Amino acid sequence: MADKQDDIILSIQGMSKSFGRNRVLNHINLNVRRGTVMGLMGENGAGKSTMMNCLFGTYQKDEGTILLNGKEVAFSGPKDALENGIAMVHQELNQCLDRNVKDNLFLGRYPTNALGVIDEGRMRKEAADLFRKLGLTVNLNTPMRNMSVSQRQMCEIAKAISYNAQVIVLDEPTSSLMTQEVEKLFAMMRMLKEQGISLIYISHKMDEIFEICDDVSVLRDGELVMTKRIEDTNMNELIAAMVGRSLDNRFPPVDNTPGEPILSIQHLSTKYAPNLSDITFDVRKGEIFGLYGLVGAGRTELLETIFGIRTRASGRVYFRDKLMNFSNAQEAMDYGFALITEERKANGLFLKGDLTFNTTIANLNHYKSGVALSKPKMVNATNDEIKTMHTKCMGPDDLISSLSGGNQQKVIFGKWLERAPQVFLMDEPTRGIDVGAKYEIYELIIKMAKEGKTIIVVSSEMPEILGITNRIGVMSNGRLSGIVNTKETNQEELLRLSAKYL
Ligand SMILES: Nc1ncnc2c1ncn2[C@@H]1O[C@H](COP(=O)(O)OP(=O)(O)OP(=O)(O)O)[C@@H](O)[C@H]1O
Ligand SMILES: [Mg+2]
Repeated sequence: MADKQDDIILSIQGMSKSFGRNRVLNHINLNVRRGTVMGLMGENGAGKSTMMNCLFGTYQKDEGTILLNGKEVAFSGPKDALENGIAMVHQELNQCLDRNVKDNLFLGRYPTNALGVIDEGRMRKEAADLFRKLGLTVNLNTPMRNMSVSQRQMCEIAKAISYNAQVIVLDEPTSSLMTQEVEKLFAMMRMLKEQGISLIYISHKMDEIFEICDDVSVLRDGELVMTKRIEDTNMNELIAAMVGRSLDNRFPPVDNTPGEPILSIQHLSTKYAPNLSDITFDVRKGEIFGLYGLVGAGRTELLETIFGIRTRASGRVYFRDKLMNFSNAQEAMDYGFALITEERKANGLFLKGDLTFNTTIANLNHYKSGVALSKPKMVNATNDEIKTMHTKCMGPDDLISSLSGGNQQKVIFGKWLERAPQVFLMDEPTRGIDVGAKYEIYELIIKMAKEGKTIIVVSSEMPEILGITNRIGVMSNGRLSGIVNTKETNQEELLRLSAKYL
């Protein structure tokens, strides 16, 4: 394709968007070439999702023009966009958890037969074909609720692809996918490119950007500051464009000194899949203990079982030699445990509440003045956490739903910091967080460890788990397949251990 150079499929010209006083996009110009992947990077709150939502018709832009194949388009809403060649996978999954996989795929556009009756057979066949192409094995009748976050994410991607769009926007599609799933997605993306379809790919993961993108653009504070061919740039240049300074190391020095064993997990088992079987290990005071494993290995389940929100079949948890077999989250919190969940929208936040509410909710006793809650105390605490976490917002009374995805994640973190927990369980704590903010979260984790807090952190990102922990427990198929010292291990060993009981 000699003319690929200038064959522009999508052109965004002079796009601006404000929310109230907050100007989020400022005269954005972006050209996407046919049959290519355009990476879109930028810090949390830079405007990436907003820009794509304006393209997709979820939001109406204030000014600017969108040309698709040289023709001006303006979508009244997502349905309009979908019918006219643009599909989008949203950063936050919006699925009907009570409906099954197949229904979710066809929601709002059930195929009907000649009699106007929903054509179940056709739905089944089309869905099966699609998943086969994506290399996925899913039971079409499984309710979404019973699928893991990563499986749900793959279903959303499948759905976007099924619209036969010319431009597909993927807003952080791989945030909870494991390596193999990412590879499947990339294979699919390459296939789509071959067919002349273009993709806009939003991600905070550098390696992915360099692997899959042809071009890359960087947004900073609502301005498009750079667009380049991927081969003409490098990681340092991208980071500098995003954060306005360069970052020499991705991880701060892990210089905490773990003390005596303080948290003891003994023979923990659960009944329901993926069931944990006979998990035993100790974590030290002031230690950062990583948990690695493939999706479905049981890492999230382990954290949830320790925290008391998943039923134990057998086994015991001791903290400071006291039995901690919690039967609910409140009990766990009362004993100084905290859990940051991987799925923020469903478990971590009250989307209708403001920042103050979401920051203080786990710790209300703290803000009493006599018997009544003191609003000023709550607002002060929230302001402190906004500062600590560098949360991008207008102020404590912002609605949580108006924050960008990564900034919502920071609020969850702030909420738990407010409680000053003794044992901090973190499930993918930096998921969706930009490079600069990640570094700050790592610093916080190390600082907490130095203060004697005990931390168990689940991460699917190999460099992260190797970069910020003292020891790593590897899980495989519900069992603990090994515990290694971080300084003495490597990627191969972690992978080998995670496959041990498959
Ligand atoms: N519905 C809304 N109402 C008010 N403000 C909003 C709304 N949606 C987004 N914003 C604001 O627009 C800015 C950009 O948010 P956006 O979600 O586009 O960021 P992003 O680049 O996608 O970040 P992330 O990497 O965290 O997903 C943020 O400051 C956010 O608070
Ligand atoms: Mg976003």
